[in-house]
Amino acid sequence: MSDILKNEKKYLLDIDLLSFVSHELKTPLSILKLNVEMLKKQIPPEKKRFIDIMDTEVEWMIQFISDTLDVQKIQNKIKLNLKWYKWNQWMQKIQNSLENTVNLYKGNLKLHFSDKETEVYMDPFYIKQVLLNLVLNAIEHSPKNTPVEISWEQTKNKKLKIQVIDQGPGITPDSDNKIFEPFYKEREKTNHLIKGSGLGLTIAKKIIQAHGESISAFNRPKNKGATFAFTLNTK
Ligand SMILES: Nc1ncnc2c1ncn2[C@@H]1O[C@H](COP(=O)(O)OP(=O)(O)OP(=O)(O)O)[C@@H](O)[C@H]1O
Ligand SMILES: [Mg+2]
Repeated sequence: MSDILKNEKKYLLDIDLLSFVSHELKTPLSILKLNVEMLKKQIPPEKKRFIDIMDTEVEWMIQFISDTLDVQKIQNKIKLNLKWYKWNQWMQKIQNSLENTVNLYKGNLKLHFSDKETEVYMDPFYIKQVLLNLVLNAIEHSPKNTPVEISWEQTKNKKLKIQVIDQGPGITPDSDNKIFEPFYKEREKTNHLIKGSGLGLTIAKKIIQAHGESISAFNRPKNKGATFAFTLNTK
């Protein structure tokens, strides 16, 4: 086990709290917006005004969050709550929520469960955010109906390597590191509910770094598509 894990101190996620909260609110809000749009088409005219109010308010919140992201003023820290978790078991638990999100974008998610159970040291709340950000990117930056895969394997140096693989256009090799910088966008999303702000990968990187680990991106040599890989410590 690495030194960083030997002492029991709690790790800090070094990120602008305001940016983090704003960004993570965008996903549920976009889902809300989509459902409001669907209800609008089905509701009888006399009840339409209730939906119109909801629509206006959701729209306002989305606008407010986008503006807030532009005005980053508050510097804050978030504490991680790290414990040991059985990875396969935990993935089974969050599988539905990942799939529901992907289905909203009419995407197709494949999870490759490994035969061997591995215990990882993580904060499940934040690792779920990382997976959601990566899976959403994979869908939002790829053509419609292309599959997204999540797979994992144990490495020789006692880590679990988790990969999110898509069949989209891939990333520009020069900007491999730049895409992790705040507000950096290489392309507009092709398949999206809300415009991107360029923070998803910055947040993912900060969360993985706060776990004492790293995240990287590369294109698969032969096939099309990007792969995002990160590691977690195992027992
Ligand atoms: N799977 C992917 N395939 C191709 N390009 C990607 C992929 N994931 C990220 N990128 C590129 O990296 C950039 C940064 O990604 P990031 O998630 O930080 O921002 P975003 O998706 O544009 O917006 P946000 O996540 O804030 O809604 C994207 O704008 C895109 O150009
Ligand atoms: Mg993103």
